[in-house]
Amino acid sequence: MKGRKISDSVCWVGAVDWNRRLFDELVPLPDGTSYNAYLVQGSEKTALIDAVDPAKSDQLLGQIEGLGRLDYIVAQHAEQDHSGSIPLLLEIYPEATVVSTPKAQGMLTDLLGIPAERFLTVEDGKTLSLGNKTLEFIHTPWVHWPETMCTYLREDRILFSCDFFGSHLATTDLCVKDQPLVYEAAKRYYAEIMMPFRSAIRKDLAKVEEHDIRMIAPSHGPVYDQPAFILDAYRDWISDAVKNEVVLPYISMHGSTQKMVDRLVSSLAERGVKVHLFDLAVTDIGKLAIALVDAATIVIGTPTVLVGPHPAVFYAAHLTNSLRPKLRYAAIIGSYGWGSQAAEQITGLIPNLKVELLPSVLCRGAPKSDTFAALDNLSAAIADRHAALS
Ligand code: FEO
Repeated sequence: MKGRKISDSVCWVGAVDWNRRLFDELVPLPDGTSYNAYLVQGSEKTALIDAVDPAKSDQLLGQIEGLGRLDYIVAQHAEQDHSGSIPLLLEIYPEATVVSTPKAQGMLTDLLGIPAERFLTVEDGKTLSLGNKTLEFIHTPWVHWPETMCTYLREDRILFSCDFFGSHLATTDLCVKDQPLVYEAAKRYYAEIMMPFRSAIRKDLAKVEEHDIRMIAPSHGPVYDQPAFILDAYRDWISDAVKNEVVLPYISMHGSTQKMVDRLVSSLAERGVKVHLFDLAVTDIGKLAIALVDAATIVIGTPTVLVGPHPAVFYAAHLTNSLRPKLRYAAIIGSYGWGSQAAEQITGLIPNLKVELLPSVLCRGAPKSDTFAALDNLSAAIADRHAALS
């Protein structure tokens, strides 16, 4: 055994993926990630909590080398970054039983071909004895798939949370040492993965908080040995409160939309409104997602290409709609050459956003004095609405 202890009976036996830069071929990973697996050794039985991405199976096997017997593999989530190496583990440990929710069992059979007879399915609140240690299973659906659960090790007061509270961060820190760094990574993770399920997560958070938690051990990123840090952050992110902030994703082809954006940013700043500006030609969409967690307003800036918005703006609008941030207001600005349906098309892309749509500001060609006046009016309307939020 080469794992790293997080308590007398629990070892981290996961894998750090320092060089991965994209998840699901979609989500940027500027700081890599980890796939945390934990070995819980009771007086009679041994359980592995989650496994690792199949590309990192060797790291997991190296950590548990010499383990004579594995009784249970607790599959808290069917996504392959945690479950993908389970088939290999079942070959190496033929005595092992996979423990999962009933829904996860079906998904693991569909995705990985694990036979149904290798499973023990557990209902919400059920326990499993390892001798002197007890695992309690807490169903937490929709963080971020429908089959997800957490596991609470009662005697050690450790919550194994899988993706819940996770952060994509490759580090040698077993527990959180640099709180600002982990906060940013965990907020990015929440924004990209969890935010669409904010309502479900609110219920799940209340459910896990019924337990006396000394430590949270997620399956990505460092362990929280001071769990209040991440619990407080999640309470803030899932709340209905929005901040006096505008998110402004935009693109400009020949400079006209850029001039409009520059004017609006200055005008908002003069009114005390914070702006998060993203040039979609170069931006990290994870940064855009983070800014969407708290902002009250989104303003989308686009030139017109073939009657509609620039394709990069299509993508950003679709992504924002899918992430379902708690925005209250939206507006569209931009320029066009001879005609445009950009505003109508963008509006049609964001039906999930429960926002008041403020008047669009579109101009033919380069912005002129009347365009700048309209942008100042938009800025005033945004500032007035934000002032009424507090
Ligand atoms: Fe880390 Fe949803 O897998």
